Amino acid sequence: MPTILAIESSCDDTACAILKEGKVLANMQASQAIHAEFGGVVPELASREHMKNIWPLVTTTLKVSDIVLQDLDAIAFTRGPGLMGSLIVGVNFAKAMAIGLQKPIIEVNHMQAHVGAHYIDQPIPKFPFLCLTVSGGHTQLVQVTDYLRMEVIGQSIDDAAGEAFDKAAKLFGLPYPGGPVLNKHANNGNPIFEFAKPRVGGLDFSFSGLKTSILYYVQKQPEGFVTENLNDLCASVQKTIVDILLTKLQKAVEQTGITELAIGGGVAANSELRRRFQELGVKNNWNTFIPKFEYCTDNAAMIGIIAHHKYLGGDFADQSVGPLARYAI
Ligand code: KG4
Ligand code: ZN
Repeated sequence: MPTILAIESSCDDTACAILKEGKVLANMQASQAIHAEFGGVVPELASREHMKNIWPLVTTTLKVSDIVLQDLDAIAFTRGPGLMGSLIVGVNFAKAMAIGLQKPIIEVNHMQAHVGAHYIDQPIPKFPFLCLTVSGGHTQLVQVTDYLRMEVIGQSIDDAAGEAFDKAAKLFGLPYPGGPVLNKHANNGNPIFEFAKPRVGGLDFSFSGLKTSILYYVQKQPEGFVTENLNDLCASVQKTIVDILLTKLQKAVEQTGITELAIGGGVAANSELRRRFQELGVKNNWNTFIPKFEYCTDNAAMIGIIAHHKYLGGDFADQSVGPLARYAI
């Protein structure tokens, strides 16, 4: 059973984890505060921060795990999807480290890893299960038939759910990253405002219209409206996004007959989505699964657990492997 060091650097968090026999010994990250003053991730700065953070982070993760370099059986990394300049840092660091140690490398798809977050702690969902993966870059409904066998059965045709949260927060003048801040305000408000919901066929999603709908609504109001109604506005946006997500999830259950259900990705940290997902599960007799908070937002433990299963299947990458900004599951 392997000991694996995993690196995640697809966006603005540098993350490193060590897993021994599929158990997480340490799951650490260095977040990049620098982007807040720009109201969003600046790719060039993210890349530079990864460069600065990666070695100290890997050293600390080894120390915390009480693991020395020679104990490692493989080095895993996120190959994509993500920001090219960010991915390059993690991919090349992992490849160089593996050459130095003469160890194999394992490449991991970031979106597959968000689903894989469900394999870290028991109980894990039974196959086949459906996973609604909602992050800052993606919104996907994934049908999972085995640890590494998954198929996207629905996805956003424009913005991701996390982007919708972040853009709405920005419209309300809230600091970046907007999703968690909007969530906090929503906790103290009521969803009294109505925003247009998209009409997209099948199991696909659309969120770009929501931003326009909020913008037009707010523009028509008198000065000071947003400040005075901030909590209720946040609660209304949050309810609309959660409605859209759970309506499609219900449709996916009807179409597939699968009642083993999971959510993952950064937006799965949203308290209203978690609450209503569980509530729906109880009402419809579904088995619902939500990863621990730290395994919802970007982390390297989820990269490590997918790598663990790839290791068991002998699925190693070649040193010629490069990052992919777009990388389908
Ligand atoms: O998975 P993730 O950490 O990174 C990506 O792969 O994109 O997801 C980040 C997204 C951001 O859009 C962030 O605003 C959103 O997840 N997010 C939330 C919450 N926590 C994180 N959105 C709503 N409510 C939250 N509590
Ligand atoms: Zn992610």
